[in-house]
Amino acid sequence: MRLENKTALITGAAGGIGLAAVKRFLQEGANVMMADMDEERLAAVAKELATDKVAYMAVDVSDEQQVKSLASSTVETFGGINVFVANAGIEGKMGEIIDSDVDNLMKVLDVNVKGVWLGLRYVIPAMKDAGGGSIVITSSGAGVKGAAGMVPYNTSKHAVIGMMRCAALECTKYNIRVNTVNPGPIETRMMDSIAEGLVPGSANDFRNQLEAITPMGRYGKVDEVANLMLFLASDESSYCTGSVYMVDGGNAT
Ligand code: NAI
Repeated sequence: MRLENKTALITGAAGGIGLAAVKRFLQEGANVMMADMDEERLAAVAKELATDKVAYMAVDVSDEQQVKSLASSTVETFGGINVFVANAGIEGKMGEIIDSDVDNLMKVLDVNVKGVWLGLRYVIPAMKDAGGGSIVITSSGAGVKGAAGMVPYNTSKHAVIGMMRCAALECTKYNIRVNTVNPGPIETRMMDSIAEGLVPGSANDFRNQLEAITPMGRYGKVDEVANLMLFLASDESSYCTGSVYMVDGGNAT
């Protein structure tokens, strides 16, 4: 029980990776507050999990008031926040800069960058009150490498690494660790959507090509990301802060 007596707040909890983390953290004894924009899916998941160790809140992570009340509701519901997984994200539209519009860029940055910052802004004070904790930000393989046609997403995932490094330095004095998890291609709705956006109509060919250049020769599974999140969330990673953790089948090597 690596998260016994701990409360985790997870955003993007109704999606592929977020939900895998919710389930993994519950197995290890945590209370979990699930946050996502998709209220219907959150309600269905909460019903399926059927435990009072889980609660949910429909939140747009790019809305300051909503994130502020998410942090305070989590404290009211479970008594504090020990783990924060800033995982909600969108891929936006794919396309070269010269074919793209600025609205798409700003929308992706709003959710993927401002959304993470707002989470840090309102969760860190609660974690300080709890005597410390661990923050895991979901960046991406796209946060350490360029990719043609993916400027907004790629830029946002690079940005949160910088944010993580600064936050880690600010937070050691509060006994709070901050790291990023950087998944490579993982079997989720998002990966299919990115493939379709880059090469319309040939998502399967795209997957075959990407798997062929991935040293481990396959897409990853959501549980493989959740296991790394669990390690960083737990006290097993007590000397880890300010770092980028790849879970990508060797893709970035
Ligand atoms: P997903 O699309 O299954 O899950 C994303 C979740 O975020 C969805 O449930 C969605 O409703 C929620 N969300 C989107 N905008 C939101 C907002 N403004 N406020 C609150 N919730 C919002 O995708 P997946 O794959 O589970 O993605 C999770 C994270 O992992 C994202 O940050 C993504 O960029 C990152 N990632 C995913 C990879 C993949 O291959 N699937 C690879 C690398 C990173």
